[in-house]
Amino acid sequence: MYIEGFSTVAPLHDFVMNFIHLGVIIPFVLVNIALVYFIVKYRRRGPNDVTSRVEHNSTIEVVWTVIPSLVCLAMFVLGIEVFDGQRTVPENAVDIQVTAKQWAWEFQYPAALKKDPDSRAALKSYNQLFLKAEEPVRLIMKATDVLHSFFVPAFRVKEDVVPGMYTYVTFTPLSPQKEKGKDRVEFDIFCTEYCGKDHSYMLAKAHVLEPAVYESELGKIEEEASNVTPEVGQSIWQSNCRSCHSIDGSAVVGPSFKGLYGSARQLESGESVTADENYITESVLNPNAKVAKGFPPVMPPQDYSEAQIQSIIEYMKTLQ
Ligand code: CUA
Repeated sequence: MYIEGFSTVAPLHDFVMNFIHLGVIIPFVLVNIALVYFIVKYRRRGPNDVTSRVEHNSTIEVVWTVIPSLVCLAMFVLGIEVFDGQRTVPENAVDIQVTAKQWAWEFQYPAALKKDPDSRAALKSYNQLFLKAEEPVRLIMKATDVLHSFFVPAFRVKEDVVPGMYTYVTFTPLSPQKEKGKDRVEFDIFCTEYCGKDHSYMLAKAHVLEPAVYESELGKIEEEASNVTPEVGQSIWQSNCRSCHSIDGSAVVGPSFKGLYGSARQLESGESVTADENYITESVLNPNAKVAKGFPPVMPPQDYSEAQIQSIIEYMKTLQ
């Protein structure tokens, strides 16, 4: 009846949903059948037809009071049980920081998971959430611009992501090995609150991985964070810049990346600068310091590592 569930709370969640649906639909149908039947059967047949006199019936009164009360009570108790499972954070839960922004998801993993404790680059992935099988997680979420909402149908979690405050979801993914005999499975993550032009593209993937695969994926992220290549720059552009910066020369929200590196830029202030490493780095970290002429000062500051910004610059160099 629902999309496949893949968290520990999913089976009970689905049972409660079915219970409430059926507990509402079945009485609705029965009552309406009886209603139509009685309307026809006891219709007024002529001017001399008198209404029959119906006395109080205690048995029926008790039945139709007690049974629905018990059903409603069961809905309440089961509902609280599921709600509790979705809001109580297990003690051993791993905290992942989630940042929602127009129109991408950023996931930052605990520094303790880094292989190289000396590296300063944060362990971050964009639009890809990596989760270890059977490990409880808490996603601590914030938004940098407008209201978004984090929704993973497979885990049965959904929560608004709000600028200026933190919200969370908690869940425990199942094991792909036990459930499907695979070492990884992926599920859709949606933004489910209208957040502007590209709301419908604000999608991500949740990957549930067996421990060995999980470690190798996080290892890859860590390596990428300190690797400087145009490919890394391109993947950053793909997941984070493309909704505002084209690579074909067309102006979207901000200037195109094409031909940007090394060019002379006219600024809103009337000055002119060369788009070199200094200018690009500043424009990533503090976008409003030097706003290009003809563009609105709307870009939020980005907290990329030095290596990541160098990768973006390397990628720009390929777009001449
Ligand atoms: Cu973010 Cu819709």
